[in-house]
Amino acid sequence: MSLKERINMQRLPRHIAIIMDGNGRWAQEKGEDRLFGHLHGVESVRNIVEGCAELGIEYLTLYAFSTENWDRPAYEVSGLMELLVDTIRNEVPTLNKNNIRLHVIGDMDMLPSAARQELKEALDETSVNTGLNLIMALSYSSRWEIAKAIKQIAVDVKAGLLPPESITQDTLQRYLSTSKFPDPELMIRTSGEFRVSNFLLYQLAYAELYFTNTRWPDFRKDNLYESIVDFQNRERRFGKTGEQLKEGV
Ligand code: IPE
Ligand code: IPE
Ligand code: MG
Repeated sequence: MSLKERINMQRLPRHIAIIMDGNGRWAQEKGEDRLFGHLHGVESVRNIVEGCAELGIEYLTLYAFSTENWDRPAYEVSGLMELLVDTIRNEVPTLNKNNIRLHVIGDMDMLPSAARQELKEALDETSVNTGLNLIMALSYSSRWEIAKAIKQIAVDVKAGLLPPESITQDTLQRYLSTSKFPDPELMIRTSGEFRVSNFLLYQLAYAELYFTNTRWPDFRKDNLYESIVDFQNRERRFGKTGEQLKEGV
């Protein structure tokens, strides 16, 4: 039985989030420049996006660049940014062919204005697609996102649009850049690092976490299927007891 056949198609995660890590080490281990790793990482992106679309996953969030990554050497930052924006731009026909809708979350003000414009066009050109929602986290960090949401809540409270006593967990959710998406059920991090690095801190509250030593440029559909099978073998209790779940309470 192939790994794909072991997936229960009735119990797929609706939303998978991935920290695509290990490009630099993958390249350095081959005696190559870090950017060579990022270039090969794009192949994995294509393969995994296709894999998710084939399975019928509804949402895929990919952590491509964190706000902290701006502090890397200028050479790597500009090379990586160019690669990301060019790739997104060039992939639009394929996204359209596969009915994939692109979304971007992150601090777009940090991007050069030409890159911002290219991204905007790519978003517009895929906006009518109804299949997989591909969410690129670009210049993203969770603490940035939460601070921005709180600032906007304060503005709305001050303007009398939001009574403070009406604020609940759902209010905060509505002000996040992910407000249109359900929380990820499965979060994958590649490359053998066991941390979340400022990624979707609020949204991952009840996600199942899956860590693999595979470096991102080596991550392919079979690795994705393996993570989904692992996810499906877990008991998600959401604070209840295992017995309660069996009784269907
Ligand atoms: C992930 O690979 C891509 C980004 C963070 C942009 P890295 O560049 O972090 O690769 P490692 O972790 O140094 O190997
Ligand atoms: C997290 O990876 C960000 C992305 C994958 C885009 P990093 O490589 O930047 O994370 P740390 O620095 O190892 O925590
Ligand atoms: Mg890394």
